[in-house]
Parts: sequence; C-alpha cells; structure tokens
Amino acid sequence: MKTVRLGVAGLGHVGCGLIELVARQAELRLPGKVEVVGVSARSRTRNRPVDIGGYRWFDDAATLAEDPDVDVFVELMGGSDGPAKFAVETALKAGKPVVTANKALIAMHGQALEDLAQAQDVDLMFEAAVAGGVPVVRVLRDSLTGVTIRRVTGILNGTCNFLTTEMLRTGRAYEDVLDEAQRLGYAEADPTLDVSGLDAAHKAAILASIAFTADLDFDKVSVAGVDTIEVLDLVLADRLGLRIKLITEGLLSEEGVVCRVAPMALPFDHPLARVDGSLNTVRVEGTPLGAVTLTGPGAGAGPTASAVMGDISKLFSPTARSPFGRADHHVRRVFVDAAPGERSAFFLRVKLSDKPGALASLSEALAAQNVSVDKLLQDSADESGASPVAIVTHVCSRGDMQTAADHVAALSSTIGAPQLIPIDSIG
Ligand code: HSE
Repeated sequence: MKTVRLGVAGLGHVGCGLIELVARQAELRLPGKVEVVGVSARSRTRNRPVDIGGYRWFDDAATLAEDPDVDVFVELMGGSDGPAKFAVETALKAGKPVVTANKALIAMHGQALEDLAQAQDVDLMFEAAVAGGVPVVRVLRDSLTGVTIRRVTGILNGTCNFLTTEMLRTGRAYEDVLDEAQRLGYAEADPTLDVSGLDAAHKAAILASIAFTADLDFDKVSVAGVDTIEVLDLVLADRLGLRIKLITEGLLSEEGVVCRVAPMALPFDHPLARVDGSLNTVRVEGTPLGAVTLTGPGAGAGPTASAVMGDISKLFSPTARSPFGRADHHVRRVFVDAAPGERSAFFLRVKLSDKPGALASLSEALAAQNVSVDKLLQDSADESGASPVAIVTHVCSRGDMQTAADHVAALSSTIGAPQLIPIDSIG
C-alpha cells in the first residue's frame, strides 16, 4: 500500500486538527497510508492539544517544503505573503504537490501559483481555503464541469453570519456578539478581516475564478462588511420580511465576471435566508443544472482539517489538473468592477428628524431618481428625536438607487448615515 509523506507547516487549530486526523486514519477512508515526516510552526513549545515531540522539527517552513522525505507540502500558516507564500513556491519549484487552507494567499497570488504548479506539472489544492468543511472547491472544479454557471452566491464568513444572526435573535450589540465569536474561535486572529468582508471576499474570488474560468483579479472585487450594520437595521428588515446577511456573489456579465461581498437583504423564503449562526453555504446556479446549495461548518479545526485531508487523499493518484480547473481551449474571462445596467430592489433605512416634511423630502429624493417605494415602515422618534424609517423599493437601477441614497444622506432632515442594502431575488 502506498504511503504519502507529509510536511506540515503551521500548527494552529487546523494544523493540530490534521495531526489528530492522521493519528486516527484507520477510521478514515483514505486510499493509502499518510505519515507526517516533519512539522514547522512559529513556536515549538506552545501548548497544543497534540504531541508533536515525535516529529522532525523545522524552524523554517521553506526548508521543510523542499526536504527530500516530504512527498506533499501542507501549508496551514496563513497570510497572503511572507513565509507562507515563499514556502509554497519553494515546494512547487521542488516539484512537490501543495495542499493549503490559505484563502488570502490563493486570492492574492493564485494566478501566479497556478502558473508555477502547471509549469512543474504538480497539483496545488485548496479545498480548505473556502468554506472550511463544505466541499465546494472540487465540486465546482470537477463535479460541475458539465454546467454553464450563471451565478455563485454564498455565506462565506461564519463570524459575520453569527453576528447578524445573534444580533437579531438577542438584540445584543455588535461589539458584544463579536467578542463571543472570538471566544468561540470563529473569528480570524485579526477580526477586522472578518467584519470588513475581506475574508469572505478572498473566498468568493476563488470560487468565481473557478466557476467562470476567469483570471483571478482581486483588485476588481468590491468588498463591504457588516461593520456598519445596527440591530435596528436587522429588526426593521425582519418586520419587512427580510433577513440581512453578508452575501458573496459572483456572476457572469457581458463585460466579465462581477464579484462582490456586501450585506444583502433576503426574503424569508430565500434559500440562503435560513442559514444561521456560524454556518457557511454556497449556491451555484447554472444550465442545465438549475441550482445546487451546499451548507455546513465553514470554520473550526475538525471541519477544516477534514477538507485538507480530502485534498491529501486525492494526491494518492495525482492528476496535476489546473488548480482552478482551466484548460487551454476554455473561454478565459476577466474580473470587472461592476456590470452596468444591473437592477435590484433595495432595503433603505434612514433616521429622520421628527419634523414636518422630513418624509416628503425623503420620498422626493427617491422619486427624482425614478425609485418607487413598495413598502414603508416608520416608528416613533426615540428620545433624541430620530425617527427610524425603513423602505423596500421596487426593482430599480442600482446606479439610480445609489444616487438617490446619496441625496437622501445629504438631506438636512437625515440623521447619521442611511443604510442601503440590495434585496436578492431568488435564483
Ligand atoms: N474567520 C473565518 C470565518 C474562519 O469566520 O468564517 C474560516 O475562514
């Protein structure tokens, strides 16, 4: 029986989760035996849930990557540049396949790493980089090759989904729930990566690149997070039949691939609306498939390590397929900032000063841009005299709506920044 020898760089939650899985591989369904022949991490002595005393230690990940005893280099260090990138490049240059969970690295440098892997005819695999334990990369890359994909939407950051779910469920403030997400281990070491939408954007760009055979260009991805969402927005949207969530979207337009991350409002019967807490989900729409949705744990040691092991398992019979699943004859697309002429309905929340004409100026600003109101909800003013108004618009041009919202923000009767969130239609 064949044995695959691993060099594991990075012994945080996921690295230790992988060591545990290797230890109990008799219970798994790997096609052969897996052995850890060397490890590397920032600290050798840190307290860990697994004993690493029996493994060869490497101070430097790149030295491990090119060690002759290593068949497969597993990169679980994180970070888009620096030692992780150098070690992955070193492994590929040494002709060794690489398995990584590093979403930032693949989103920022996937294109160059793909070229290197292809030139060396070795596999570069990153199932664990997107949606943790949800097997979406290879489903998109391999299982759905017979589908012309139109759109890929998802919830790809467990921390943000936990935030919006818990703030609505309990009425607790943003900072309080974020503290809990950090304690529960969902959030990145630097949680601004989560709440700014950047972590989800890395994952969305990887999926869009695979789905649309597009050259990954992270500069074109538009990124917004949940850091401006208030409990008030979630509660008013709920009363209007909508759930606000951080949604990732990749879609094919005539100009190219639009990829974005932003809060979206979903009708209660939308397939993504009930995916709550720290769960991740990905929905792929295309022809002749229709739609398929995969949901599960998007973070955590066990689920993410299982995705890493799934990639390792594939390397018993290496295929050296393009990491993003492209062949020379495929249509190669580009990422674009936005597609002109896109239309959507919107959820708009404004706080108005409680005085005559405030609502009239708001509706005039909307009407001036041809934005028509479908539903409107106004509550009494709070003690400061700010009266919350929530509006659901009819479908209108995204550009017109943004202009109208800018005018609303500039009205003398508007207090604070309005909240403008597109409503997703059910695909
Ligand atoms: N911080 C990420 C999340 C973990 O909250 O989803 C997995 O990338």
